[in-house]
Amino acid sequence: MERTFIAVKPDGVKRGIIGEVIKRFEQKTYKLVAMKLMQVTPELASKHYAEHIGKPFYEGLIEYITSAPIVAMVWEGVDVVEGARHIMGATKPNTADVGSIRADFGQVMNMNIVHGSDSVSSAEREIGLFFNENEFCDNYKSMYEVLCEG
Ligand SMILES: Nc1ncnc2c1ncn2[C@@H]1O[C@H](COP(=O)(O)OP(=O)(O)OP(=O)(O)O)[C@@H](O)[C@H]1O
Ligand SMILES: [Mg+2]
Repeated sequence: MERTFIAVKPDGVKRGIIGEVIKRFEQKTYKLVAMKLMQVTPELASKHYAEHIGKPFYEGLIEYITSAPIVAMVWEGVDVVEGARHIMGATKPNTADVGSIRADFGQVMNMNIVHGSDSVSSAEREIGLFFNENEFCDNYKSMYEVLCEG
């Protein structure tokens, strides 16, 4: 089973749509295995967004992700990295598929509500940045696991 790192970004938290984001992953029958409300420090932000260092939007991105708390989560499921990116929609909300979180709730790229790992290796790296081993709670069966039992 694959895992991915998902975060409700500061604009999503401030707008009160944490539940809306979580709902979409729950209804897909992915399994929530870790979650916390947290303030991202500039140090953590620079590690998380290391691939964007030097780009014109980098400083604004760091300011944005550290501007208010995020909800950090780890979700588990079949090909969940790819599936979660579809649920989120494209980076630019105006070109994201209608029905995705970014299309349904956002207008602009620098306030696009949600983060999701872009590959299995990114997911492993990001989960390691945001969570310690003792923060995982996976000793229950998700609806998907129950359905698979027939
Ligand atoms: N050209 C841009 N102008 C402003 N902000 C941008 C731009 N490109 C990316 N960003 C911001 O940087 C974030 C990271 O960019 P990335 O290319 O990794 O997109 P993403 O993988 O869809 O988003 P995320 O990593 O947040 O899930 C974007 O979500 C967006 O908030
Ligand atoms: Mg990205």
